[in-house]
Amino acid sequence: MARTHRIAVLPGDGIGKETVPEGLRVLDAAARRFGFNLELKHFDWSCETYKETGRMMPEDGLDQLRTSDSVFLGAVGWPGVPDHISLWGLLIPMRRGFDQYISLRPCKLMPGTRTPLAGRTPADIDFIVVRENTEGEYSSSGGRMFPGTPREFVTQDSVFTRVGCDRVMKYAFELAMTRKRRKVTSATKSNGITFTMPYWDERFAEMAAQYPGITTDQFHIDILCAHFVQHPDWFDVVVGSNLFGDILSDLGPAVAGSIGIAPSANINPERAHPSMFEPVHGSAPDIAGKNICNPIGQIWSGAMMLEHLGEAAAAAAILDAIERLLAEGGPRTRDLGGQASTQDVGRALAEAVAQG
Ligand code: NAI
Ligand code: MG
Repeated sequence: MARTHRIAVLPGDGIGKETVPEGLRVLDAAARRFGFNLELKHFDWSCETYKETGRMMPEDGLDQLRTSDSVFLGAVGWPGVPDHISLWGLLIPMRRGFDQYISLRPCKLMPGTRTPLAGRTPADIDFIVVRENTEGEYSSSGGRMFPGTPREFVTQDSVFTRVGCDRVMKYAFELAMTRKRRKVTSATKSNGITFTMPYWDERFAEMAAQYPGITTDQFHIDILCAHFVQHPDWFDVVVGSNLFGDILSDLGPAVAGSIGIAPSANINPERAHPSMFEPVHGSAPDIAGKNICNPIGQIWSGAMMLEHLGEAAAAAAILDAIERLLAEGGPRTRDLGGQASTQDVGRALAEAVAQG
C-alpha cells in the first residue's frame, strides 16, 4: 500500500493564492514519481473570511486542521485588516496550539541568484537558523502598574524553561548530525542579560557534551548579526531563543538573497500535532493577482514538508530541480531579473521533478 500523507492546504491572502497552486503542482509531481499519496483538504480562511465573519478561522479551526499531518500555507495578511488581527487570528494560534516549538529557516545562496553581500558564492552561504518558537522573551508574563501616575512602570518577563531550552538545542544538534559540517552556533547575550542567558549557555554546554562529534561555538547576538554579514561562511546550524532567533531568521534569508525563494517550517518534532510549512514572504499586495510572483519559496517549503513527512528522496529531488533551474537559466520571475510567469516556473519545476 502506498504511503498517504494528509495535507491541510491554506492559500490565505494575496500571492498565497498564486504560489500555493504551484507548490501543489510540484508536490503532485513528486508524489507520482516517488510513489506516495497526498490527501489534500482545502481551506479558504483568509482576511476575506475575517471581513465576512469577524474571525480569521472558525471557532473550531484548529480541530479541523488537527486531523492533517501537515499544514501547507501561502501567506496571511491584507490591507484593510490590521496585521495583528490576521497574525493572531490564524498563524499564532496554529504555532502555539500545535506546539510548533521549532521554527526553521534555511539560508542558502542558490546558484544563479544574487546576494546583497559582495563577492560571495553559493559555497559561502549555506546555513540554517533554528529558532525557539514558544517561550523565551515572547511571554505573556508581566504587566503595568500605577498607570498614568509618576510611579508608572511596566515589566515583561522572559521565560526560559529547561524543557524549552533542551528540546530546541537537541533539535539543532540532531539536525547538525545530518549535515556535512556538523557545527552548531548558539546565539546568546550572557554579558548583558544576567539570568536567562547564562542559563541558556549552561544548557547549551550540557547538550554539546552529549554530541562530541559536533563542533560548537557561541556569540553574543550583536556581534553574531555582524558575522552573518561579514562571515556567512562560518555558519552551519545556528540556534537561538525566540527573540534572537526571530532576528536571525530575517537576517539570514536576507543575506542569502531573494525573499521570493526563501522557505520556512514551523515544526512539532514529536508529530503529536501537525507542523506548518510556508514561504518566508507575505501576501505581497503590490504584485498580487498578476501572476508574476516567484513561487520558489512556496515550492521549497513543500520540499521541507516532504522531508518532515519522511519523503527525503522526494524532498531532495525538488531542491535539486530548483538548483538546476536557477543555475541553468530556466524560467525566472521578475524579482530574479526574468520575464516568466508564476505558472511558467511552477510547470518547469514540476516537469524537472517528474523526469528526475
Ligand atoms: P511581503 O513579503 O508580502 O512583500 C515584501 C516585498 O517583497 C514586496 O515588494 C513584494 O512584492 C516582494 N515579494 C514578496 N514575495 C515575493 C515573491 N514570491 N515574488 C516576488 N516578489 C515578492 O511583505 P509585506 O509587504 O511587508 O507584507 C504584506 C502582507 O503580508 C502584510 O499584511 C503582512 O502582515 C503579511 N505577511 C505575512 C506573512 C506570513 O503569512 N507569514 C509574513 C510576512 C508578511
Ligand atoms: Mg520576523
